[in-house]
Amino acid sequence: MKNIAIFASGSGSNAENIFNYFADKEDVKIALILTNNKNAFVIERAKNLNVPLVVFNRYDFYDSNHVMDKLKSFNINFIVLAGFLWLIPNNLIDGYKKRIVNIHPALLPKYGGKGMYGMKVHEAVKEAKETETGITIHYVNHKYDEGEIIFQAKVNVEAQDSAEDIASKIHLLEYEHFPRIIESII
Ligand code: GAR
Repeated sequence: MKNIAIFASGSGSNAENIFNYFADKEDVKIALILTNNKNAFVIERAKNLNVPLVVFNRYDFYDSNHVMDKLKSFNINFIVLAGFLWLIPNNLIDGYKKRIVNIHPALLPKYGGKGMYGMKVHEAVKEAKETETGITIHYVNHKYDEGEIIFQAKVNVEAQDSAEDIASKIHLLEYEHFPRIIESII
């Protein structure tokens, strides 16, 4: 049995989609959801899905072993970042080498780095009049959005698409591919 922990900072629709994908699989379990944001909607989702939840703060994450201890106590083998906005500290990177993946809502290396997340990415894509965008699934290292790329998928951007339209297209791509890619590398 492989136990996955999902980190999310916001709505958590990817977290829920990944949970649903693995719900009827016997060898993989979403064992824990963690968030740095006590107001995040992912908390409601975790409660509804009956997944154990950890809410942590900056001190817990960067200056203590609190999060690592939680991961160990739930026997977590693999970490998925799904809309998680904080840089991962070295103790987790070292403890989970090649076992942490992130999804980014653009075609990295374009539109990545600190401060580039969620709608900010889609607004930048719109502003630059890109004709295509997409998703990138990558391993996580100690820099924002720079780990080895595992998978990318593209979608067309029409001139009349708003940033919200682009976000919807990207979410559909994420729901389609992210669980499947996790399954293939875990
Ligand atoms: C997703 O589109 C994800 O790619 C993005 O945040 C959204 C979270 O949506 N992640 C980043 O921008 C990371 N830099 P969700 O909370 O509904 O899953």
